[in-house]
Amino acid sequence: MPNRTHAYVKEGQPVRTILEHIKENNYDLVVIGSRGLSGFKEFLGSVSHGIVQHSPVPVLVIK
Ligand SMILES: Nc1ncnc2c1ncn2[C@@H]1O[C@H](COP(=O)(O)OP(=O)(O)O)[C@@H](O)[C@H]1O
Ligand SMILES: [Mg+2]
Repeated sequence: MPNRTHAYVKEGQPVRTILEHIKENNYDLVVIGSRGLSGFKEFLGSVSHGIVQHSPVPVLVIK
């Protein structure tokens, strides 16, 4: 079966909304960027950090 990806637009606090979405769907893997648009130099942003910490499925972080 070909790889399937999904795109959704949802409203809410990002970490909570993304985690709810992950838990409502039977995903094999979550792919997320390491940083967003903020200028901080840490490897993980607050959203990617929250998803890596709390996701029930594997997370691939893209630098
Ligand atoms: N509102 C959002 N909706 C969907 N994905 C997001 C959202 N905010 C951040 N992300 C994902 O998390 C990654 C890291 O962003 P974030 O943790 O917000 O870093 P920063 O603190 O640098 O903005 C982004 O590359 C994106 O994949
Ligand atoms: Mg951000």
